[in-house]
Amino acid sequence: MVKHRENRPGQKAAGGLGAKPRRDMPGKPPAKPAHALRPAKPSRDHGERVTEPRAAASVAAAPERPLIARTGERSAERVPVILESLGAGDFHLIDTGNGLKLEQYGPYRIVRPEAQALWPPSLAAHLWDNADAIFTGDTDEDGMGRWRFPREALGETWPLQLLGVDFLGRFTAFRHVGVFPEQIVHWAWMKEQVEAAKRPLKVLNLFGYTGVASLVAAAAGAEVTHVDASKKAIGWARENQALGRMEKLPIRWICEDAMKFILREERRGSKYDIILTDPPKFGRGPNGEVWHLFEHLPSMLDICREILSPKALGLVLTAYSIRASFYSIHELMRETMRGAGGVVESGELVIREAGLDGRTPGKALSTSLFSRWVPK
Ligand SMILES: C[S@@+](CC[C@H](N)C(=O)[O-])C[C@H]1O[C@@H](n2cnc3c(N)ncnc32)[C@H](O)[C@@H]1O
Repeated sequence: MVKHRENRPGQKAAGGLGAKPRRDMPGKPPAKPAHALRPAKPSRDHGERVTEPRAAASVAAAPERPLIARTGERSAERVPVILESLGAGDFHLIDTGNGLKLEQYGPYRIVRPEAQALWPPSLAAHLWDNADAIFTGDTDEDGMGRWRFPREALGETWPLQLLGVDFLGRFTAFRHVGVFPEQIVHWAWMKEQVEAAKRPLKVLNLFGYTGVASLVAAAAGAEVTHVDASKKAIGWARENQALGRMEKLPIRWICEDAMKFILREERRGSKYDIILTDPPKFGRGPNGEVWHLFEHLPSMLDICREILSPKALGLVLTAYSIRASFYSIHELMRETMRGAGGVVESGELVIREAGLDGRTPGKALSTSLFSRWVPK
C-alpha cells in the first residue's frame, strides 16, 4: 500500500519533487491499474499547499481601494465562445474517462485525475495501465499524492516544447506537470498579437507560475512583466528561460502578491498592452497576503483596466476550480470595461482528445472559464 507523508510547503514532497520514483516490489500487491484509480478534485495550485483562508488568520491582500464608478456604454459582447485546443507542440490529450485523463507530454504518457471525465474511456485499459507516469493519492483539492512510474524510473524533470518555447515538464507533488496546456489558446492568441504589432508590446502576466506564457510573449517580441507569489515557481520560470537560452529577452521576474503589484503599478502610472490574469480560487502572497477570487476579482479587474495602455490589445482572465458560470466573469468584465469600447468575449477553454496519434479528435474536456476584453 502506498503511504502518504505530510509535507510542508517548501519541503521536498513524498513521491513528488526530487523524490526517488518507486517501482513496485515483487511480493507486494500490485498497484491499482490506472483505469481503476479514484479521481480527485481538480486544483491548479502550483505546488505549494494553499488552504482556504480563515478570516481571523487573513492578512489583507491590499489596502482598501474603492472600485471606480464606471460609466459609458458597455462593450459589445460575444457569448458563448468555446476556445478549443487539440494540443500543440509536445502536448496532446490522448483519452479521458472514469475520472481520469491520459495525456502525452513529449515522450511520456501521463495519467492524472480529472473529475469532469464522467464518461467511460475510449481506449483499452492496457493502454492506460502502460502509461509512463500515474498520479495516485487520496488527494483532496489541496492534497498531495504520489507519482508512480510503471515502466521505468523517471527523473523529476524532462524537456518539452510548446509554441516554439522550451521548458521543463516536472512531476510535482500536487499532480501538476509544470504547465497548464489549457492556456494554449490564450498563448497562441497573444503570440499572434505580439507578432502582428508594429511596436514592442508590454505584456503583464499575473499569477504566471513557471513562465511559459511569459516566454512565449518575450520570444514573440514583447517586453514582459511576470508576477507570481511563489519563489519556487519563479525559480522554475528562470530555469525555463535558461533552458531556451532566452536570458537576454526582456522579462522582469517579480515575486510578489499580484494585487500589491498592480496597485503599485497603478500609482506609478505604468501601462501594459496585454494583461493575462489566471488567478487561483485561493492563494497567498509571499507575505501571507490572502487572495480570494470571489472577494478580490472585481478589484483586480478594476485596477487592470487602469493599467491598460490607451492602445491596449487585450485583458484576458481565466478562472478555474470555481463554482460559477462564465456569465459571472463575463458581466464583471463588461461592467469593468464600460466606456472602453471593444468587445468582451467569454466562455470556456476546452481541450479536445486527440487520440494516440495526436490527430484524431475525440471528446471535449472543459478546463476553465474565461473572459477577455479586446478592442475589436
Ligand atoms: C494555476 S497557477 C497559474 C498558471 C499559469 N497561468 C500558467 O498557465 O502557467 C496559479 C499561480 O498563482 C500563484 N499565486 C497564488 N496566489 C498568489 C498571489 N496572491 N499573488 C501572486 N501569485 C499568486 C501561484 O504561486 C501559482 O503559480
